[in-house]
Amino acid sequence: MENKTVYLNGQYLPLNEAKVSVLDRGFLFGDGIYEVIPSYSGHLFHFQDHLQRLENSLAGIRLANPHTREQWQEIVSPLLDRNVDQYIYLQITRGVASKRDHAFPDNVPATVFVMCSNIVPFAGLNRGVKAISMDDTRWKFCNVKAITLLGNILHRQAAVDQGCAEALLVKDGYLIEGAASNVFAVIDGVLCTPPKGNDILPGITRDVILDLARKNNIPCSEDNIPFSALQEASEIWVTSSTREIIPVVELDSKMVFDGIPGPVWQAMNQIFQAYKQSLIMSEQTFFEFPCEFPVKAMGKAGMELDLLVIEIVRRHVPDVKDDAVTSRPSKDGNFIAITVIIEASSKKQLDAIYQDLTDHPDILMAL
Ligand code: PDD
Repeated sequence: MENKTVYLNGQYLPLNEAKVSVLDRGFLFGDGIYEVIPSYSGHLFHFQDHLQRLENSLAGIRLANPHTREQWQEIVSPLLDRNVDQYIYLQITRGVASKRDHAFPDNVPATVFVMCSNIVPFAGLNRGVKAISMDDTRWKFCNVKAITLLGNILHRQAAVDQGCAEALLVKDGYLIEGAASNVFAVIDGVLCTPPKGNDILPGITRDVILDLARKNNIPCSEDNIPFSALQEASEIWVTSSTREIIPVVELDSKMVFDGIPGPVWQAMNQIFQAYKQSLIMSEQTFFEFPCEFPVKAMGKAGMELDLLVIEIVRRHVPDVKDDAVTSRPSKDGNFIAITVIIEASSKKQLDAIYQDLTDHPDILMAL
């Protein structure tokens, strides 16, 4: 077993030293929720969306969020490795009660566990995978990312037992989602996926795909899909954070259209990969922190802009000295440019300073 560092209840420790009590409600009842968040070269993918879903899942099981979004970011960051693509597994259970009792315990802190694993590119990505269909036997709150996954596990294993990668779940004659994925189908040239609701997990990959499809003029719809309509589908895909967009080329031992990944998948996969790359680039910084950095702001002449700028900068860098500030009027004397040299510690800090400066009505421009 790889003995990587994991996070458990406020501590970073080797995986083989991370232990929870047998009375943990996650262990006894599956009473908890989880998230799976990709990180590409150390950049968390749609982190705020994953945190929003985490908040929704916690609300769905009536468990208070033990951390703010900033704290989650701080907890997760030390586990990331810039040199590889990884996914974060984050689990919160209702903690360790003194005895086994179905009803919620009082005043018991949640158990928080976070670990990071390398993403191994999914083998079926380029040539497609086989799937089976099954009646959905899971519970009624599939929108909650609950750790209680027996239904999903049994569906997935049934698929694996038949040499398939995924089970497509069907309820009352309608296509729902995969055992651990969302589902898309191209029918009459329209990219279709079932709507959000209690029946499906609102996948982050699903939302990103819909967004990218709309931006790239690929017609799409979020509507109920009769399972029988799949017979007319020219393409079927399953999507998730860990496997991304996987074409299904055979369903229930029948070829999907001509049995090879289709052109809409080819296009969307390229768009998706380019989008991932663009996010990494936009978050990348060419500075090595900590470094000396000139913060610049411009406003109208005739006011004490230097005092205002230094007050804003000190909110983020308290030890800035008064002599770190210089001011220079524009040629016509109508404007004044202020420069404050700071010791910058991170891009996040610079972004926060920039945000505060641009938010102030007297500051016309900030660099
Ligand atoms: N599961 N539906 C179900 C039932 C899932 O388990 C998953 C992902 C998805 C896709 O969601 P997303 O795009 O946000 O990953 C849909 C994760 C990967 C898992 O359980 O490991």
